[in-house]
Amino acid sequence: MKFFVDTANLDQIREAYDLGILDGVTTNPSLMAKEGIVGQQNILDHYVNICNIVGSGDVSAEVISTDFEGIIREGQILSELHNNIVVKVPMIKEGVKAIKYFSDKGIRTNCTLIFSPGQAILAAKAGATYISPFIGRLDDIHLDGINLIEQIVHIYGNYAFETEILAASIRNPLHIVKCAEAGADVVTCPLPSILGLLKHPLTDAGLAQFLADHKKANG
Ligand code: E4P
Repeated sequence: MKFFVDTANLDQIREAYDLGILDGVTTNPSLMAKEGIVGQQNILDHYVNICNIVGSGDVSAEVISTDFEGIIREGQILSELHNNIVVKVPMIKEGVKAIKYFSDKGIRTNCTLIFSPGQAILAAKAGATYISPFIGRLDDIHLDGINLIEQIVHIYGNYAFETEILAASIRNPLHIVKCAEAGADVVTCPLPSILGLLKHPLTDAGLAQFLADHKKANG
């Protein structure tokens, strides 16, 4: 399972990269705005800065147009920024048409805002490289986000779709473990959720004991 970090914060991306487990980055317009990245040129420059940190990892850059021509225009510009850019396109009718267009041109895409198995089927048929089912936002409205991942894994397996399932809207370390159990290809997570996987009280207690015993024996 690949690990992406879900942020536009360069320090957090560097921290995840330095940990040695980072396979890529996802961003969205809200995450870019949260970092104060505004204006088209600044946004494009920021994507390049992210790509330069993550080496060979994929970086999802989201379009803000909702009409076919606009999505194509934006996606073309984004895809030319860096080899690792994946154009993130919303799951709407015009988006599906654009994903098919990009797929035919060899431009990689991430179909975002997936909330149902039917949407996942359409995106795969159109040739999306990745789909992003949003687990946390489903859980927020008392629907089962992990169950959606299980359904899509099953459906894609039936037909050997090559589209990768990129579980998004991860809110905690347990979501990551459940996605791994379900067979998601990728999880994109806030850095604290990744770091949360490190934690176990028995690890802390065991290490403290080992160090104390060593000190007692060796002075
Ligand atoms: C990433 O691709 C998604 O845009 C992101 O995971 C959404 O997360 P949120 O539901 O926590 O905003």
